[in-house]
Formats: sequence, C-alpha cells, structure tokens
Amino acid sequence: MSSDQIPGYTYGTDDVPDAPISMDEFERLQQTVLFDEDDEESLQMAGDVLEDQIDDVLDVWYGFVADHDFLVYYFTDGEGNPDEEYLDRVRERFGQWIRDTCETPYDENWLNYQFEIGRRHTRERKNEADDADAVDHIDMRYLVAFIYPITATIREFLADSDHSEAEVDAMYHAWFKSIVLQVTLWSYPYVPDENW
Ligand code: HEM
Repeated sequence: MSSDQIPGYTYGTDDVPDAPISMDEFERLQQTVLFDEDDEESLQMAGDVLEDQIDDVLDVWYGFVADHDFLVYYFTDGEGNPDEEYLDRVRERFGQWIRDTCETPYDENWLNYQFEIGRRHTRERKNEADDADAVDHIDMRYLVAFIYPITATIREFLADSDHSEAEVDAMYHAWFKSIVLQVTLWSYPYVPDENW
C-alpha cells in the first residue's frame, strides 16, 4: 500500500500545521542527541534491513502493548473494550512511521508531522484521524518510558541481516537517537510553552 492510501496518514498535507519551532532550533536538538550525517546513513541502511520485517516488528510491539492492560487501555473506551479497528488503522501508520524514521529526510514536512504525531497522543487530536471513540489522552510518562522497549526490541531485527556487528551497532544507535529526538518533539503539547 502506498503511503497516500494509509487511512489517517496526512504527512505532507495541508492538514498538518507548521511546526512551532524553526529548523535551526530543530538542528540544535539534533546536535543535543549527537545525531549527524553518519546517523542518517545508518538509518537508510536500517530502512533496507527493516523493510521486509515491518510486520514482525509490529507484532512484537503490539504484543507488548497487549500484554499490559494499562497500555491497551489507550485503545479502549475506558471500560475494557478495545477498539479493534482503531488498533488496525494505527498499526498501518506505525509501519509507515518506521519507514519515515529511517528513509525520509528530516526536513520541514518531517518536522511538521512530528508535532502532529505528538498531538495525536493527546486531547488535542487523539482519535480524530480514525474517528475512534477511545479514551482521549495518553499520559506522557508512558511515551517517555516507551523509548526503551521501542529501542531495545529493534536490535534483533537489525542484526538479522548480513551487516557487520559495527554496522548493526551504528544502526541501533542512530535508531535510539531518532526515537529520543522524536519523543522529545512529541512532548510539546504536554508541556506549557514557557517550560518546553
Ligand atoms: C499513534 C508511535 C507511545 C498509543 C502512534 C503513531 C505512531 C506512534 C507512529 C501513529 C502516528 C500517525 O498517526 O501517523 C509511538 C512511539 C511511542 C509511542 C514511537 C513511544 C516511543 C505510545 C504509548 C501509547 C501509544 C505509550 C499507549 C499505549 C498510541 C495510540 C495512537 C498512537 C492510541 C493513535 C493516536 C490517534 O488517535 O491518532 N504512535 N507511540 N503510543 N499511539 Fe503511539
């Protein structure tokens, strides 16, 4: 499925407001997580390695969520009923996000969409893209805590390739930096402006 057919995926469209920070500020954040051109190259390599494994990666992450009621909660109506259609639709965008993390240039469109993903985890826009009736907000502490499983679990998939240990390590660290960078951007709607 090409990305413009993914339900609710609005990357690069007018539906996505401009980022509230400049590209200069974004570059400062990149420098803060030590993200550089070598990481961009390593992520391209990771994109190639992960392309055929995206479903397996998503099985691991969705399995992790499914194993914890307090995480599944965010896909439910708040009374214990998961919304299967919502889970499926988000899963497709999650797959595309792996591609966008690895292969898409981190330009203005990419930056704008980061803030959109952030909003979609909060009262500002959660449920809107899928017209879902689930609880309306994901508590920020779980976004931050999720950095570890989303990072640690990717390593075995990166290693399942004919790349050297040093290359796997470089891909893994580039991935880790990108996830920290992205969750930092996603924290924006959670934090009062003067504190962010
Ligand atoms: C949406 C990634 C944390 C629940 C999404 C999307 C991505 C994503 C890529 C789809 C974005 C789009 O619409 O294009 C991540 C990552 C996380 C994280 C990388 C942390 C490192 C969490 C946590 C939960 C969660 C802790 C709680 C279980 C959801 C839900 C949606 C969503 C319910 C759908 C939001 C909507 O209504 O549009 N996430 N997420 N996410 N995520 Fe997360």
